[in-house]
Amino acid sequence: MGMNAPVITDVQALEIIDNRGRPTIRARVYTDTGHCGRADVPCGSSTGSYEAFDLRDGDNRYGGRGVHKAIANIHGELRPALVGHDVTVQRQIDHLMVELDGTKNKSRLGGNAILAVSMAAAQAAAAALDMPLYRYLSTDGHVLAVPQACLINGGLHAGNELDAQEFCVMPVGSPTMEEATRLVCEVFETLKGLLERKHGKLSTNFGEDGGFAPPLSSSREAMDLLLEAVEKSGYVKDVVYGLDIAATPLYDTTTGRYRFDGRQRTPDEMIVAMQELVREYPLIVSIEDPMQQDDLDGWKTVVDSLPGVLIVGDDLTATNVERLRLAIGAGAMNALLCKVNQIGTVTEAMDAARFSQRNRCPVVMSVRSGETEDDILSDISVALNAGVFKIGGPHGGDRSTNFNRFLEIEAELGPVARYAGCDYAQLA
Ligand code: PGA
Ligand code: ZN
Repeated sequence: MGMNAPVITDVQALEIIDNRGRPTIRARVYTDTGHCGRADVPCGSSTGSYEAFDLRDGDNRYGGRGVHKAIANIHGELRPALVGHDVTVQRQIDHLMVELDGTKNKSRLGGNAILAVSMAAAQAAAAALDMPLYRYLSTDGHVLAVPQACLINGGLHAGNELDAQEFCVMPVGSPTMEEATRLVCEVFETLKGLLERKHGKLSTNFGEDGGFAPPLSSSREAMDLLLEAVEKSGYVKDVVYGLDIAATPLYDTTTGRYRFDGRQRTPDEMIVAMQELVREYPLIVSIEDPMQQDDLDGWKTVVDSLPGVLIVGDDLTATNVERLRLAIGAGAMNALLCKVNQIGTVTEAMDAARFSQRNRCPVVMSVRSGETEDDILSDISVALNAGVFKIGGPHGGDRSTNFNRFLEIEAELGPVARYAGCDYAQLA
């Protein structure tokens, strides 16, 4: 910006709670134009070891999960460094915070502290320039991603015996985000009825992703229920399926075995299990974290043996360009899961996504299991023209918030809006 660029006048942070009743950070960035940007930091539970450091107090408040230290770092270090800074140069702001932290994984100031300010600064700049955030972040963002909606939860996200973490529907045949949203919610309702009939009322309790957490114990049972719910809802031609195996927490490093679908499996048997799932359910078009995060050879075998299926790196890559370069170089993935808090700034998350897209690995934007009502990820998804957005199930305000922001953006873009639909893997 030129001489009259809006300037940061204050940065304020507050400890709030997320959808699990755990503390997180809400930050506000104020500008001399009288504007303010606000952002909340999400948090995972099946976190990979390559993620940015989530700084927690470790004292007796909230079981050690308080964020007072991270907030003190915002007020004590980030605020003085940023006050007076042009708010419209996101890359410089993020770079400055990364340099000030000085560690590789943001462990000094906290990835959560830095991300809070990074996102709030982006919101403040967009407000000061009177632009929607997706437009501020990119001049050509116009794609509404296919919502990959997790309707059945397992793994660390549910109190059931399902080993795989997420069983998702992807409404690729819908013409618009509006129709895709309706489809997801109608299938969700149908599934609720099916679960109640087949497994009793208790099976309609919710998991951490806003989907159901029924007492199932195999991927096949979960897939059969999804297929039946889609069929009963009348959407057979419009839906494909995505899984998040989240294999890292299923892997026991001492025995070298995975616990998956009721059995202990060697890495080779795990690969076969993935191949069999796709053979049995050919509408599975995406599998995330099929193998643990350090088995690049295993990942490559999965990629090579399942042509046409997105093999999505989450814990594998942690939205980190260095990890991404390694994984792509090894042929170990063909799609990137992009979670902003894995890396800790808006700029670095978007850089990772764009690096991935340039290397013909489409981007799946993703929420975390721990979320708030913040909807910033929808704007970032549109800015990146991402083809898929892992959005959770439609239960709870933490989940509806991104559906609703997408609906708002679609309406605002009007004829320029393009729903990714069947092109979800070919965009950008
Ligand atoms: P998390 O799960 O947010 O608990 O890490 C989401 C995922 O694994 O994709
Ligand atoms: Zn995952």
